[in-house]
Amino acid sequence: MKVAFAKPEIPASGTLVALAADGRKLGKLAGQLDKATKGAITRALEASRFKGGAEEFMTILAPAGVDVARIIVAGIGTPAKYDALAAQSLGGRLVAALNGTGEKDVSVWVESIGDMKLDEAAFAANLAYGARLRFYRFDKYKTKEKPEQKPSLKHFNVLVADAADAKRAFSPMDKVVDAVNFSRDLVSEPANIIYPETLAAEAKKLSEFGVEVKVLGVKEMTKLGMGALLGVGQGSDRESQLVTMQWNGGGKEKPIAFVGKGVTFDTGGISIKPAAGMEDMKWDMAGSAAVIGTMRALAARKAKVNAVGVVGLVENMPSGTAQRPGDIVTSMSGQTIEVLNTDAEGRLVLADAMWYCQETFKPRVMIDLATLTGAILIALGNIYGGMYANDDDLAKQLESSGKSTGELLWRMPLAAAYNKMMDSPAADVKNISGSRNAGSITAAEFLQRFVQKGTLWSHLDIAGMAWADKDSPTTPRGATGYGVRLLDHLVASHYEEA
Ligand code: BES
Ligand code: ZN
Ligand code: ZN
Repeated sequence: MKVAFAKPEIPASGTLVALAADGRKLGKLAGQLDKATKGAITRALEASRFKGGAEEFMTILAPAGVDVARIIVAGIGTPAKYDALAAQSLGGRLVAALNGTGEKDVSVWVESIGDMKLDEAAFAANLAYGARLRFYRFDKYKTKEKPEQKPSLKHFNVLVADAADAKRAFSPMDKVVDAVNFSRDLVSEPANIIYPETLAAEAKKLSEFGVEVKVLGVKEMTKLGMGALLGVGQGSDRESQLVTMQWNGGGKEKPIAFVGKGVTFDTGGISIKPAAGMEDMKWDMAGSAAVIGTMRALAARKAKVNAVGVVGLVENMPSGTAQRPGDIVTSMSGQTIEVLNTDAEGRLVLADAMWYCQETFKPRVMIDLATLTGAILIALGNIYGGMYANDDDLAKQLESSGKSTGELLWRMPLAAAYNKMMDSPAADVKNISGSRNAGSITAAEFLQRFVQKGTLWSHLDIAGMAWADKDSPTTPRGATGYGVRLLDHLVASHYEEA
């Protein structure tokens, strides 16, 4: 689907979208169309329940008096409350509504209605952003689809007075969508295709955007003493990898760092998971996909920031070489870990990836992302991701970027009493608390033991956010790409140089 921006005029074909606000208040275009169609819009309004609310559409097919095949009047609700997310949602919902109709071309006439605060160029850019985000589809393995089962839209045209301004505003957003969709692709791919070495190869592709990518294998990681990460991968025939990605778009500032859990498949290992639903564990690398996607977004839009991404890539398999419950491993930090459950593997991978990140890059801020616990799903479901932070300002920044992008975060507590639950009788720390209570929090406390003094740190438990079972306005069901928009926004609003 191609996105284009042009000056408003009534097109000769396709679908034309006009806006109306609460109380059926028609925009200028809708009024103009009502005249051109000899009152078809007014009559349709009388015949329908359409009120102009923010989620409402009213469709008129084959209207007389104009050449377009279809008019959609789209509600925007209360103009003063209309914001960037609402515009994205409208773009996404239009794509969803039209893709199954056979329609190829849609033109949306963007105009300011009433006391709308969102300016027209931002409205237009966000509309296109949402449309592209929703258009995503992972269909490369569907070889027998008939043309009528495929999405039909080819052109998404945004008609707006200041088309040049809108296009300029859309340019970085366009790159963020590419990055979100890249991340979604990585998460969607099955584990026979994406495993540590092939995921590292995907990360290597970021060098096209000017990112410096380095890959460490088992030999290098053994030298560095990464016993925690390596222990998780030792049961797999696939070699574990650690990838670092550096984007130097800033001055001399210390970098902001992102660390991702990249378990390309999590069987649980010897503490094996039940068969039902285990296929979901192909997306246990979503944290690393978010990090790779974020690095791509920052580099592609040439963000004025120094940023690094570190992802620990392993496959957690049961086998004759797999680690056993009760094994004690030594992490790169020197701390010994008693592995009481081999299914609590993400924290073991992150322990070494985070330590390596701090030792190598001395970041001013470090944020890790991981599909870490089922417990965060019990606590927050799939509406909010769980956020932990050792700094209130960082927590506020993340929370506010969550609100702005719709990738919501809810802050969870850290406390010494939870941390104590991870003390091991046999080693420095154990990898499960032994209680089912506060499972996401104790996992975060485990991670905090690998945060160096002075590092501002946040942990995002995104187990509920990586995959969606149903469509939402800007995210079709499947891999969500959660985290890319959030972190890109965080960097843009708090870490980029002017
Ligand atoms: N990858 C899982 C967490 C997970 C569960 C992600 C469901 C997405 C959906 C993680 O490695 C895991 O298995 N965690 C265990 C920890 C437990 C053994 C302490 C869990 O949450 O049950
Ligand atoms: Zn696990
Ligand atoms: Zn896992």
